[in-house]
Amino acid sequence: MQYRRFGSTDLTTSEVGFGCARIGGLFQGSSRAELVTLLRRTFDQGVTFFDTADMYTQGESERLVGEAFHHNRDRVVIATKFGYRSPAQKRLLNHVKPFVKPLIARLGLKSQQVHAGLRGAVSQQDFSPAYIASAVEASLRRLKTDYIDVYQLHDPPVEVLEHGEFVESLELLVRQGKVRHWGVACHRQDDALVCLRYPSLASVQVGLSVLEQAALDAAIPRAAERGTAIIARQVFASGLLTRRLDALRLDEIDADPELAARKRDQLAAYASIAEHCGRSRAEMALQFALARHGVSVVLLGISRDEQVEPTLRALQAPGLSAEEQQLLTASRRTSLVD
Ligand SMILES: NC(=O)c1ccc[n+]([C@@H]2O[C@H](COP(=O)([O-])OP(=O)(O)OC[C@H]3O[C@@H](n4cnc5c(N)ncnc54)[C@H](OP(=O)(O)O)[C@@H]3O)[C@@H](O)[C@H]2O)c1
Repeated sequence: MQYRRFGSTDLTTSEVGFGCARIGGLFQGSSRAELVTLLRRTFDQGVTFFDTADMYTQGESERLVGEAFHHNRDRVVIATKFGYRSPAQKRLLNHVKPFVKPLIARLGLKSQQVHAGLRGAVSQQDFSPAYIASAVEASLRRLKTDYIDVYQLHDPPVEVLEHGEFVESLELLVRQGKVRHWGVACHRQDDALVCLRYPSLASVQVGLSVLEQAALDAAIPRAAERGTAIIARQVFASGLLTRRLDALRLDEIDADPELAARKRDQLAAYASIAEHCGRSRAEMALQFALARHGVSVVLLGISRDEQVEPTLRALQAPGLSAEEQQLLTASRRTSLVD
């Protein structure tokens, strides 16, 4: 495992981090104990960065990270996020989760069926000083810690970023020692450019993959130039880049059939490039993100034990050659994100 400076902060992190959005959900077959073991096992393999959020799996993701590392707190970097208020139905779901989970498994219910029942239960966003003050305490409790290394706004709308009311609250949390650094997990690439104006901002999190290269135009170079840490996420395009193409239904790729068909062609083109280069699609996707100048940590959306070994093997692979880089950046014209 290689380690990198986290921008111009005092933190150092493994070059890949564990993206914790997929752990602890109602439909995940693994038990709590298995997920805690999965987190600890990736740490044993050298991963020191864990990215979670208060709203992931109704708080369960933060709880699992807390459970896994409260005895080893100073050896990991914990990044979490705030800004989504859970609707009442989802909060209720969280309380009944331990009882409902075995029932769902027994009845073989699928995610879509239960989510249909929650339709209308849309999370509202809140970045007000009062909300930040309460959200941070709840995250600290779930994470079983007295400080958060990187506290991030979760998909803030651009107006919130421009107004900047949250800055004073976050700077206060830093002075109080509850937060070491603050950052923004950006919904859109251009949002990163807006938040770079705040001197105390330490990190930005942006989507970056061979199919979503827009962050390379301005967000990543400008953040790197300023010494802002860059967290690259969705390097496997949330699994589209690695799943079997012939098994992907169009509606799994995109709700818009026309766009889905276009994306499927792009995925097929990417598969051909990887084959031509003699690399697996996962390896190529990972190496592409790791090679970008200024990226401090690349998140991996791990949810199962068997994903750890191949990912760490893909890390050992040689970096991309100039020809491989060229092939991938030429495919930029066909970016999945408009
Ligand atoms: N707005 C935000 O702040 C935001 C939004 C999205 C994500 N994130 C962060 O980014 C993290 C990653 O997001 P993500 O999970 O959507 O994207 P991702 O890492 O691009 O995709 C994860 C998927 O890739 C596949 N995969 C993982 N490891 C693999 C391997 N070694 N070989 C082949 N396939 C592999 C798996 O698909 P299968 O399930 O098919 O195996 C997995 O579900 C999240 O956990 C979260 O921390 C933040």
